[in-house]
Amino acid sequence: MLTAAETKPNTASLPSKGMLIDGKWVDSASGGRITVENPAKRKPIGEVPRANAADVDRAVAAASKAYAQWRRVVPRERGKALLKIAEALQARTEDIARTIALETGNALRTQARGEANMTADIFRYFGGLASELKGETLPLGEHVLSYTRREPLGVVGAIIPWNAPVMLAALKIAPALCAGNVMVMKAAEDAPLGVLLMAEICQEFLPPGVLNVLTGYGEECGGPLANHPGVAKLSFTGSTEVGKVIMRAAAERIVPVSLELGGKSPSIVYPDADEDWAVDGIIAAMRFTRQSQSCTAGSRLFLHEDIFDSFLSKLEKKTTALKLGDPLDEATDIGTIINNKQFTKVCKYVDEGLKRSDAKLVFGGLPPKTGPLSEGYFAIPTVFADRSNDWRLAREEIFGPVLVAIRWSDEAEAIRMANDSHYGLAAYVWTHDIGAGLKTAHAIESGWVQVNQGLGQVPGMSYGGFKQSGIGREFSLEGMLDSFTQRKSVTVNLEVRRT
Ligand code: NAI
Ligand code: MG
Repeated sequence: MLTAAETKPNTASLPSKGMLIDGKWVDSASGGRITVENPAKRKPIGEVPRANAADVDRAVAAASKAYAQWRRVVPRERGKALLKIAEALQARTEDIARTIALETGNALRTQARGEANMTADIFRYFGGLASELKGETLPLGEHVLSYTRREPLGVVGAIIPWNAPVMLAALKIAPALCAGNVMVMKAAEDAPLGVLLMAEICQEFLPPGVLNVLTGYGEECGGPLANHPGVAKLSFTGSTEVGKVIMRAAAERIVPVSLELGGKSPSIVYPDADEDWAVDGIIAAMRFTRQSQSCTAGSRLFLHEDIFDSFLSKLEKKTTALKLGDPLDEATDIGTIINNKQFTKVCKYVDEGLKRSDAKLVFGGLPPKTGPLSEGYFAIPTVFADRSNDWRLAREEIFGPVLVAIRWSDEAEAIRMANDSHYGLAAYVWTHDIGAGLKTAHAIESGWVQVNQGLGQVPGMSYGGFKQSGIGREFSLEGMLDSFTQRKSVTVNLEVRRT
């Protein structure tokens, strides 16, 4: 973590933004600030408050106060507010997309615009679901009325990462608020600006305190939020390592927790899929145009031995045709890694692959040390071929454009290797034989399997992880009901007589 002195370079002229507490745009109690960097230029672009425990206290107090009213707003009215937010976000998608591209390094055309549009869509989807917060009646006999209510939990503490910051924020805000909860969200220190812009748009349609957004570091601000006694539910997206910290905090107070964590997702390609559409699909599944900084990246490629070399040469041709460059340039396909820490981490993995004797570099390698691409954290799409599923590059979430290709001949062995991971988030199967594809899809231990496509999540899908990839689902009606409401049963004796 940076020290206070390091976060204060000469930034007097940088645009600075407050954070949102109780409907107001405020500074941190300490006055500390965090500098936000453009990773494509390694240059500061703005400042945000550096929140700590005192700010968490203020935000939780504001949220608790707002909760008393917000939970009583008729659900359809809450839904209408979300629908208005959706339209306002839609009108501002270009501003949001540019902000995302500038602070994350995700290319505007291939990524940031899609994220901004998806954000509006998420509010639209959940806005329409407010009437679905229904309960049930139980058939206990004519003398009794027993029914359930879906009640909100209270103050939700939400912590999000930087890889798709605005969309991931929307995925927590929209269902939580729809269900009558209020929220204190901590944005990621590397990408707070898009989230603050979205919060500004949300705030136009919400009572003060219903949504509070803090900017701060993990331990300094996220820690106090996870441990705050006024927080009734924790919702976290990020690394498995920090997910465990959040779950421990939840255990301490017995609060429900949703975790969306990492992945090392397999792609299994059958011999009949040695074709261009499958190669395009692998590029999409690997999220090469998002520098593979995606929890669902299909980063282990299991290729049938009959097509191993020909598939990889097609993959090389298509992947190396993608253009790396300034994220704001319309011609750019691939932008940059988020920050120096992640960039260094990705480079270390590439270096390890280059040094491993039984791994073969198919294409890619270490980033250039000179020229325009050396200005930013540009990592080059890299593929290693190896016989083993057991080395670090094939087991750990790299969160960068490093793909490991492994050969298989026996279907059962391919499935065994695919499942030999402590992660279980996504998976991809590629074949014309739909029977085989579906049987494999059913055998794979992961929360989401796609057959013959490598797309991103869509609202309505109960998306989430098996194994250490997470707990809970948030992207759907069921996700909203399970993650952001609690059931109360009310049982009434109908046969009480005056005596
Ligand atoms: P991270 O998990 O440390 O950060 C995610 C969020 O958690 C940020 O808002 C951060 O400030 C917060 N946080 C960090 N430590 C915390 C703590 N002790 N208490 C409360 N909040 C805390 O992820 P980071 O460092 O940005 O990336 C490291 C690795 O995590 C990546 O290389 C990748 O493997 C994985 N990751 C996975 C993501 C996913 O969507 N599955 C997203 C981001 C990172
Ligand atoms: Mg940044």
